[in-house]
Amino acid sequence: MKCILLHGGQGTRLRPITHTGSKQLIKIAGKPVSRWMLEKIRDLGIEEFIIVLGENDPRSVIDYYGGDGSALGVRIKYLYQGGKARGIADAIYRCRGGMVGENEFIVALGDNVLIDPIPARMVEAGNSVLLARVRDPSRFGVAVISEDRIVKMVEKPKEFISDLALVGIYKFSSEIFQEISKLRPSARGGELEITEAIQGLIQDGFDVNYEVVGNWWKDTGTP
Ligand code: DAU
Repeated sequence: MKCILLHGGQGTRLRPITHTGSKQLIKIAGKPVSRWMLEKIRDLGIEEFIIVLGENDPRSVIDYYGGDGSALGVRIKYLYQGGKARGIADAIYRCRGGMVGENEFIVALGDNVLIDPIPARMVEAGNSVLLARVRDPSRFGVAVISEDRIVKMVEKPKEFISDLALVGIYKFSSEIFQEISKLRPSARGGELEITEAIQGLIQDGFDVNYEVVGNWWKDTGTP
């Protein structure tokens, strides 16, 4: 199984420190945020990574990871998203076909850090998301659970519907590409929202499994 590790985006919420570099290379406890994530995914037994690069100094990301990733015991390929960051779903869509093929794959946001290991159930068959309880759900994608199933997902809801936020680790099968192809840029930020694509899976009758993270988790995209 491959992992798409997202290293694009403009890092606008972390300016000025992201004026000259990628936010995911900012170090926490001695390592870039994205490396903590890559190592967590590697601990699941995944060795093949596709790192999606954005406009913000992509060369420094390739340099940091030593090109093919062999120094970290993984194999890395790079895909350049380019232009204005068009959304997480857009970045994933660009990896269809040759990059991930028809296989199931993991997606990890390179600006998320968590303490616990990623639950092994995340790599079992089917679509899965990771959730965490938060105090400020309007900053995240959120999931509404009913009778132990996810019934609805909304990106950064203005009105409270749930305090279970989407952590930036997802597992998808190839039908996610069909859902992404139906998306239109969101009213919120003009991006293709992965949360809307997952909502599409639910509406089309696909099960989306979930696991709730108990321990510390951070989206480092804001100060
Ligand atoms: O951190 C969890 C949250 O991440 C989820 O709860 C939300 O549902 C999800 O939409 C996302 O929200 P953010 O507003 O934090 O997303 P952000 O724009 O910061 O992008 C997340 C990562 O994806 C970050 O590492 C940059 C990368 N990215 C983002 C965009 C928009 C790309 O590689 N390409 C893009 O076009």
